[in-house]
Amino acid sequence: MSLLSALPMILRTLSLFVLLVALAGSAIADDFISDVPLGLDWVRVPDDNPQSPAKIALGRRLFFDSQLSRDKSISCASCHDPKHGWSLATPLAKGVDGRVGERNPPSIINTGLQHSLFWDGRARTLEEQALEPIQNRVEMDMELGELEKRLTADRTYVLQFRQAFGGEVTAARIAQAIAAFERTLLAAETPYDLFRNGRATAMDDQMSRGSSVFFSRANCGDCHIAKVLTDHQLHDTGVGASPKLIRTPMLRDLERTAPYMHDGSFATLRDVVEYYDRGGNQRAGLDPRMRPLNLTRQEKEDLLYFLTAGLRSRAYPGVEISAGIELPTNSP
Ligand code: HEC
Ligand code: HEC
Repeated sequence: MSLLSALPMILRTLSLFVLLVALAGSAIADDFISDVPLGLDWVRVPDDNPQSPAKIALGRRLFFDSQLSRDKSISCASCHDPKHGWSLATPLAKGVDGRVGERNPPSIINTGLQHSLFWDGRARTLEEQALEPIQNRVEMDMELGELEKRLTADRTYVLQFRQAFGGEVTAARIAQAIAAFERTLLAAETPYDLFRNGRATAMDDQMSRGSSVFFSRANCGDCHIAKVLTDHQLHDTGVGASPKLIRTPMLRDLERTAPYMHDGSFATLRDVVEYYDRGGNQRAGLDPRMRPLNLTRQEKEDLLYFLTAGLRSRAYPGVEISAGIELPTNSP
């Protein structure tokens, strides 16, 4: 074969090579936080919002700052309180002027691993999510342009935005900094995680029995699938007055985040287990996996023990994160 006749083939091979290099390039463009507690997936970081210590520190300050609300009374932490598992101990939350929302604030621990945000999954990224509560009438009720002006009037914020972004205060950067901070809030390394990662003795007998109720007998694992314990899908599990599609929550450290469900209508985990045991509220649209389980008393105890002790993280990001920042007081 002459060089000339082989040219098309050489070109084809070459372009394939170029394509492969480009693909490999784009694959490493998306960054990840790989230093995660044992049991979790790596946390994906959008390539237009890389993590940096300056940005995380700024996001942390913003998260605890009640200047983000119209009357300067409510911060993100007012409803996602580190003392209550980054959630609240009441079913619903109060925003500015005592306005009450309709849903239970979810914990924001491990939220960087969610594929979609909010109980109904309506936000795709933490960046997109963060701007919602700021503007929401029953939460912080703040106009974004007004917020930019307010923070720009504070020289220390101007300085911090310059350090973190090399630029001025903008609403988009407020959201980016908060998202970067939230991506650092991780917890796992529970007995369940240790066991799954080869530590055969990490779960005691009752935990193992509870785990098999969870994954086999009661099929909880159909939706709360290993390892982050969610399928990232929406289901109607019959909770609340009217049919709603709700995203399957992750389940670690549940003892810290009572009450439960999107409307906070279950005070205890025992109530949750009894609810599943009777197959939920029968109604049109109920997920077919919801059916009476007829668990024995012992099986319920074992399941509860797995849900609490079996899914208790070894280390949990707590109030120490807010050290040096004045904590708001919205919690009961
Ligand atoms: C007045 C109470 C309140 C305030 C203030 C508030 N939140 Fe929330 N947050 C909620 C409630 C309630 C939900 C669930 C709403 C829904 O699903 O419709 C939620 C949901 C979230 C979620 C989604 C979690 C998940 O698992 O999907 C994140 C993340 C979050 N908030 C972060 C923030 C940030 C950041 C701020 C500050 C900018 C903030 N919140 C301020 C009450 C509040
Ligand atoms: C059909 C899918 C599905 C199955 C099966 C399922 N869950 Fe759920 N689970 C969900 C969804 C969706 C929610 C949120 C419902 C809501 O808030 O209205 C939820 C909520 C929960 C909560 C509350 C979490 C919180 O933070 O408020 C717990 C605890 C829980 N499930 C445990 C279990 C257990 C135990 C089983 C097995 C007995 C089980 N789930 C079976 C989908 C499922």
